[in-house]
Amino acid sequence: MAMNVRQLLAKKQRGEKLVMITAYGYHSALLAEQADVDIVLVGDSLGNVMLGYETTTPVILEDMIYHTRPVARALKKALLVTDMPFGSYQISVEQAMTNAIRLIKEGGAAAVKLEGGMETVPIIAALTKFGIPVMAHIGLLPQTAAMWQGFRCQGRDAESARHLIETAQALEKAGAFSIVLECVAAEAAAKISAAIEIPTIGIGAGADCDGQVLVFHDLVGLNKGHMPRFAKQYGNSAAVMRQAIDDYSAEVKTGAYPDPTHSFFMEPDELKKLEGV
Ligand code: KIV
Repeated sequence: MAMNVRQLLAKKQRGEKLVMITAYGYHSALLAEQADVDIVLVGDSLGNVMLGYETTTPVILEDMIYHTRPVARALKKALLVTDMPFGSYQISVEQAMTNAIRLIKEGGAAAVKLEGGMETVPIIAALTKFGIPVMAHIGLLPQTAAMWQGFRCQGRDAESARHLIETAQALEKAGAFSIVLECVAAEAAAKISAAIEIPTIGIGAGADCDGQVLVFHDLVGLNKGHMPRFAKQYGNSAAVMRQAIDDYSAEVKTGAYPDPTHSFFMEPDELKKLEGV
């Protein structure tokens, strides 16, 4: 049975930390599923790590649907959340509703995530009223950060921390089932987590969030671009993959690959029939 929103809330009540990771394809989603994570996010960070954009801003809804489908096929237990990309929910509640439904029906998402503060309250209220679970996302907002404040930690002074707490409370009231806190001062994140009943998922928001999320490529060591301070690398997959390709290339050049164990052969009688050919 797949994880549901009620079970996530219960985990917070029991003080159990939630584990979330991004995935953008069948293979990464299978690995996440095998590791028993609670939530798999098809993040619009796919714009950076899969599509080679500098920011997430250019990602479109079709990219999200395309990458959600194989993830949905891989998951049995984890809750599948898909990001609503920039421009897919800002125009109107109708637009947000149409696109959230497309992510669910065409992609196979179980819930959607959208970035933003108080301005997202009416959108979240409308989506959840019609049964679409919504994860909110406050703090650093990558879809618009480059155009405004840059990629900076949020909630470092009392006024902005208070604003984040009030925003989180309003998002909870609107119906969000969880809130991602990205790059938020640890003390502010702790106060937000204590001020609401729904779980907070931190990324660069300290240890007192109810759960944590990391981008797959950062975690396994596939991202060779800029690594933010919060992105802890737990493995060096790029080195392992690169070594494998180097070894393959060397063996092809020397003729060591393919050897007889990796080849198919004719029956000797059949081969005889070709004598003279
Ligand atoms: O797009 C993404 O991967 C995200 C996470 C970093 C929370 O929004």
